[in-house]
Amino acid sequence: MAYNPEKVSKHFDFEVPLYDSLLKFFPGYNRTIKKLIDETPSGERLLDLGTGTGILAFGLSDRYKEITGVDISPKMIDKCNSLKKKKRIDNCLFDVAEILELKYPAESFDTIISGYVFHHLEDKEKNKLFSDMYNMLKKDGTVIFCDYMKKDLPKKLLDKTLYLANEFGRRVVLVFEGDILNDDESPIKIQDYMNILRDNRFRDIETIDFAYNTDAIIKAKK
Ligand SMILES: C[S@@+](CC[C@H](N)C(=O)[O-])C[C@H]1O[C@@H](n2cnc3c(N)ncnc32)[C@H](O)[C@@H]1O
Repeated sequence: MAYNPEKVSKHFDFEVPLYDSLLKFFPGYNRTIKKLIDETPSGERLLDLGTGTGILAFGLSDRYKEITGVDISPKMIDKCNSLKKKKRIDNCLFDVAEILELKYPAESFDTIISGYVFHHLEDKEKNKLFSDMYNMLKKDGTVIFCDYMKKDLPKKLLDKTLYLANEFGRRVVLVFEGDILNDDESPIKIQDYMNILRDNRFRDIETIDFAYNTDAIIKAKK
């Protein structure tokens, strides 16, 4: 299925009231999000791509002067703004935007983060996005993101215990997001992300953690 931003937006508008309940089906989510927050350096300006209900933005608000969270789903952004009021966090700004069409000037951000968003994009879109991220980052800025990734493990190992966890993770994703995942190839291998980062001139690329079999965090510097 080709990447379809309208479908993604409608799907996540629909998911807003269910979002917290759905997360219970993703056993690695909380641990990965916490680890991503811990691994994110402090700075002045941070951009959160596909902010959802703003979990990363709010989690980092005391370490940045200004945080911008963008999402293609207007209802996710409404939810962020109501949480922002409730939590009384003033330095988080939320905007409806397609992450492939951002218009921020070059060198706007110290850090760009993202949680569980890139699997919605096809490979050529991922490539464009990493090139845009490189431009939007300040010199020595950091990109850090987590997502479902296919692990490049020896088949024998996969066939045993990890196979089950892998299947379970994929199935959960497919049940809830089946109609918006591009196809089975959308979550790509860690090595492929590393290549995209390298192709787009990022350096010091590292994989930080596996929460469980299908999740990983990747961090790199401009
Ligand atoms: C699985 S949720 C993750 C939300 C949040 N980052 C988290 O970790 O809980 C994916 C989010 O990415 C947003 N999204 C997907 N594709 C997008 C795109 N092309 N542009 C902007 N937002 C997008 C969706 O609307 C949704 O809110």
